[in-house]
Amino acid sequence: MASSAWLLTGVFLFGCCLRAAPSSAEIDRRVDALLARMTLDEKLGQMSQSTSMNTLTDAIRQQIRDGRWGSFLNAGSPADRAEAQHIARTESRLGIPLLFGRDVIHGYRTIFPIPLGQAATWDPELIEAAARTAAQEASREAIRWTFAPMLDIARDPRWGRIAESPGEDPYLASRLAAALVRGFQGSGLSDPASLAACAKHFVAYGAVEAGRDYNSAWVPEIELREVYLPPFRAAIDAGVATLMTSFNTVNGVPATADSFLLQHILRDQWKFPGLVVSDYEAVPEMVTHGFASDAADAAREAVNAGIEMEMVSTTFYDHLKPLVESGAVSTKTIDDAVRHILRLKFQLGLFDQTIPAPQTTSPTPESLALAERVATESAVLLKNEDGFLPLAESIHSVAVVGPLADSPVDQMGTWVMDGRSADVVTPLGALRNLLGNQRVLYAPGLTNSRDTSHEGFAAARTAAQQADAAVLFLGEEEILSGEARSRAYLNLPGAQDALVDELAQTGKPLVAVIMAGRPLTFHDMASKVKAVLYAFHPGTMGGPAIANLLFGRAVPSGKLPVTFPRTVGQIPIYYAHLNTGRPALPEELGIPAGTPARPTGYTSKYIDVDVTPEYPFGYGLSYSSFTYSGLRLSANSIRMGGELTVSAAVTNRGSREAAEVVQLYIHDVTASVAQPVRLLKNFRRITLKPGETQTVSFRLGTPDLAFLNQEMKRVTEPGRFEVWIAPDSQSGIKGEFTVK
Ligand code: NOJ
Repeated sequence: MASSAWLLTGVFLFGCCLRAAPSSAEIDRRVDALLARMTLDEKLGQMSQSTSMNTLTDAIRQQIRDGRWGSFLNAGSPADRAEAQHIARTESRLGIPLLFGRDVIHGYRTIFPIPLGQAATWDPELIEAAARTAAQEASREAIRWTFAPMLDIARDPRWGRIAESPGEDPYLASRLAAALVRGFQGSGLSDPASLAACAKHFVAYGAVEAGRDYNSAWVPEIELREVYLPPFRAAIDAGVATLMTSFNTVNGVPATADSFLLQHILRDQWKFPGLVVSDYEAVPEMVTHGFASDAADAAREAVNAGIEMEMVSTTFYDHLKPLVESGAVSTKTIDDAVRHILRLKFQLGLFDQTIPAPQTTSPTPESLALAERVATESAVLLKNEDGFLPLAESIHSVAVVGPLADSPVDQMGTWVMDGRSADVVTPLGALRNLLGNQRVLYAPGLTNSRDTSHEGFAAARTAAQQADAAVLFLGEEEILSGEARSRAYLNLPGAQDALVDELAQTGKPLVAVIMAGRPLTFHDMASKVKAVLYAFHPGTMGGPAIANLLFGRAVPSGKLPVTFPRTVGQIPIYYAHLNTGRPALPEELGIPAGTPARPTGYTSKYIDVDVTPEYPFGYGLSYSSFTYSGLRLSANSIRMGGELTVSAAVTNRGSREAAEVVQLYIHDVTASVAQPVRLLKNFRRITLKPGETQTVSFRLGTPDLAFLNQEMKRVTEPGRFEVWIAPDSQSGIKGEFTVK
């Protein structure tokens, strides 16, 4: 049927109003009634998700009529999706709607900074708003399921998917997880402008050995529960509708068939009521892992462990029928899975709502303003020698140099399926808008981040010589981070360092703006420039955000959500490490990278590089300066079950109104399982006028001090605790208390 014809029929058939969201009991009743009418083939169809619908062919139309698929991912145009839905609803035997899922990771048409950049805002309300916007845009185009938020704790910047992660810290990630779920799912799934969120990748995908994507993860249970699981728990507590398993093995067992994870933790301990989907072809990959003997065995293992929908591969549809008939897979297992799928479709209102006419969406002034705000807050000022930034009025002209100055695709970052280059405002464009063409001398020097040719250097040097200052837009192309984009070197690729050297010879002041999908190592480069602003891949409105930051129309407030190493050899490096019995001595710190061996004491250090990070977790400068003073504890000792208040005065000593992320850390000094030297427990983003002081208070109860002991029990042990209120994970003002 031609699309205009089906559309008319569709409006005729379904053109009535929305119904109120059905109650949970009513949904259960309808699910059971439907389930009772379904054949095993129809059930297995519901448990299958296809990526085949690039365009809607007659073969796929027929498969939809036959109930072959429950869901499509990343498929079709809005018109295709509307037509496919119409076929499913009106021409399939049971009229079960399709669920369209998509990787709406950091925006749909309006692209926000990559998730790692969003994490640098430490602003849950703001990223909730960004996710809300993405949901509104995507749902207009008949997408109702996003494969986000990605909640993999990442402590290895070699891993390309760190770009998509909330960073290294379980507490920060948990706060962001809840915010993202709220943003995507809005006031509830029955809102047609909501997306069902998907907490992924369950679990420990960020712990892959050597930072190589899809590699094995070996994670002791304590670390699994203290570091990798909490963001998932937070997402579930926030009501996340679905969860995706990860590709990797965890302690030798593929996460896709690990009943300890999927049954014991997820269902028995956490009571997760939602749908569990595999990752892309992860089920048959268990044969390659050396876990399942063939595709049928993989299907059996996966479904029995708790996978309810198979993404892309077809082992469920191909093999589960005889396995059910032989009793190797129970009917109850299949029915429970289909129940979760149908319930989600009912919750989303797909059975009851009008099939929307195909619609397209595009960025609005509001969505672009929000994207600019997120990009502004996500930028982290790492260096600002002599307060060189913001650029002064006396800087009349700027040379704009570097491969990322005018590269819309790279600026949007990894995982962008629907953002358009035409919507992107690059730094070059934004600086020209701000200063006028005459004051901007553009000479990229390199065509892309991996370019090794020096051909463009002369022009870049000339531009710098003619300008009052040069801003270098350095970093990584988007293609260098994200899935399957692990790197063994974390330096600026191509001839970017040489380009900086070339410009440094002009004697003109240089500023580096780095756009990248991960922490890079750039120690030498940083020593040659006055200031370094780390913008991650900042999305559609990165250009105006950066231009405003450079010229002081906005003040940097981002803080690193992940530790930046000095060199790749320090990895894994993260702030919440345990102490060794032989910590490095203060006099052993400050060894520059590459220093020839200088053996000293028998302590835990490197002999060729300082053991500390280049920039610590939580770090970020401002154009103002903040002082922390007067740490107060409401009590010096508390009893088990009690709580205390920790407060400090934070004063803006600068001349600019500015935001600061005030962080609360603790250290359990003696515990039956040694505890991290510092652990983030809370944070608050405050904005202070010049000279203003605010007292920031946090409550700490003894449950907040609990950890997992060797028996896997969460306990608070009596003893001494240190506490900091701090601008980052390495400084701050410190107090002490005891728990009795
Ligand atoms: C594989 C990725 O690991 C996952 O995050 C993504 O959602 C799926 N592909 C679908 O594109």
